[in-house]
Amino acid sequence: MKVMAVNGSPRKTWNTATLLKKALKGASSQGAETELIHLYDLAFTGCTSCFACKTRDSKSYGRCAVKDGLAPILRKVEETDGFILGSPIYFGNVSGEMRSFMERLLFPFFTYTDPPQSLFPRKIPTGFIYTMNVSEELMKEWGYEQVFGNNQRLLQMVFGSSESLWSCDTYQFEDYAKVVAYRFDPEKKARRRREVFPLDCDKALAMGARIAQIGNQL
Ligand SMILES: Cc1cc2nc3c(=O)[nH]c(=O)nc-3n(C[C@H](O)[C@H](O)[C@H](O)COP(=O)(O)O)c2cc1C
Repeated sequence: MKVMAVNGSPRKTWNTATLLKKALKGASSQGAETELIHLYDLAFTGCTSCFACKTRDSKSYGRCAVKDGLAPILRKVEETDGFILGSPIYFGNVSGEMRSFMERLLFPFFTYTDPPQSLFPRKIPTGFIYTMNVSEELMKEWGYEQVFGNNQRLLQMVFGSSESLWSCDTYQFEDYAKVVAYRFDPEKKARRRREVFPLDCDKALAMGARIAQIGNQL
């Protein structure tokens, strides 16, 4: 049984990556073979609108035909038993790399029928982990939950099931004294990192374990 995670942050050891690693630890506690992919290691574009994945009788029908650094990762998704995406919030949405990845991941499986249907041949569990600077209150006030809800619905539609997890008020800089960021109180940020982030890590661990359990039963 395989569970993979995809990191949409350029940072490989910070908030998003840490939570994804915890999720994979949870998955491996259930016997899953795990792999973490860092999108910023790959040279790729978003969907190029070539429509090879939608062309009748095309050998690429239902598959992304673009041959770049993402092509091998998309093949891996076809073989995985569950996966977890992770992204920092950049200007109210996922990072550009994660957005490009999602276009390439989802569009080939998504039919232009009424209602839309999924060409993904199996049902597999998925999850999405978001990290952000704002507090949970501001996250709600600024409508981020709508973004999370849309992504969850898309993943559910294509892959069968999906759950979301968010970590707010993250610790952003190595040294707050070195950056111009008066808006943040470094001590409050450090306390949150000490006291709340570990709880988010526990939630990520549980998410990974759940995804592996569901993946194992299917
Ligand atoms: C370009 C950029 C844009 C950002 N925009 C937002 C934003 O709109 N809302 C927010 O809450 N945090 C924003 N942040 C903060 C990051 O989402 C937050 O620090 C996140 O936890 C970083 O993830 P990482 O540590 O895995 O890289 C932004 C950070 C960057 C670099």
